Amino acid sequence: MIRVTAELSPRERYQLLTSLVVPRPIAWISTRSEAGARNLAPFSYFGAVSATPFLVSVSIGSRAGVDKDTLRNIRQTGAFCVNVATERQLVAMNESAGEYGPEVDEFDRAGLQSAEAQTVAAPYVADCPAVLECRVSQIVELPGSPNTLVIGEVLCVRLADEVPLIPGTLFADSRALQPVARLWGDLYALIGETPALLRPVVDRAPGAP
Ligand SMILES: Cc1cc2nc3c(=O)[nH]c(=O)nc-3n(C[C@H](O)[C@H](O)[C@H](O)COP(=O)(O)O)c2cc1C
Repeated sequence: MIRVTAELSPRERYQLLTSLVVPRPIAWISTRSEAGARNLAPFSYFGAVSATPFLVSVSIGSRAGVDKDTLRNIRQTGAFCVNVATERQLVAMNESAGEYGPEVDEFDRAGLQSAEAQTVAAPYVADCPAVLECRVSQIVELPGSPNTLVIGEVLCVRLADEVPLIPGTLFADSRALQPVARLWGDLYALIGETPALLRPVVDRAPGAP
C-alpha cells in the first residue's frame, strides 16, 4: 500500500506513526505540582537530542484541549525526572498510565515508593535502576498539533549497582538494564538479541574533504 499522509485522518496518521516508529523507549516521567502533589506517567514520544548539552525530548499530547498533569507540572516547576521503565516495572508503569485526575497520586496507585531528586524539584521512582534528573531547557508549541515538545537538560544521572558500567567507560550495560519499549496499542517490546557489528574502517588521507 501507499498513502499520502495529507489524505489520512488524524487517527490513521497516529496508527501509522506509532506502528512504524518502533520500538520507542519509554520515559516514565515523575513530577510534582506547584501545590506539592506527586505525578507519574509514561511517554513514548521520547528521544535523545544532544549529549553536550545533555538534552532529551518528550512530546506530550493534550487531553480534550487541556494540558496533561505532567505537562502542567513541568510548566509550573521547570523540573521532571525520566525514570527508564524496565521489565520488572512493566505492570506498575501500565497502572500509572490511566487517565486519572490531577488529585490521583500514581505512585500510590501503582504501589511505588518515591525519593527526591538531588538537582531538580521532582520525585523519582525509588526502585528504578536508571533515572535522569531534568531541568526544562525549552517548551516548544507545535503549530497545528495537540502535542507540546518539552526539551529537558539532564543535570544528574542516577544508576543503580545492578546496572554495571562497561569498564573504563560510562556506557551502562543496557542488557542488564532490561528496558521496555512501546510498539503500538497495548504491545511492548523487550530488549531481545543485541548483535555487535564493527563499523567499516575508512582510510582517509589527512585533509581529505
Ligand atoms: C507506554 C505508554 C506510552 C505513552 N506515551 C505517550 C506519549 O508519548 N505522549 C502522550 O501524550 N501520552 C502518552 N501516553 C499516555 C499517557 O501516559 C496518559 O495520557 C497519562 O494519563 C498522562 O498522565 P498525566 O495526566 O498524569 O500526565 C502513553 C501511555 C503509555 C501506556
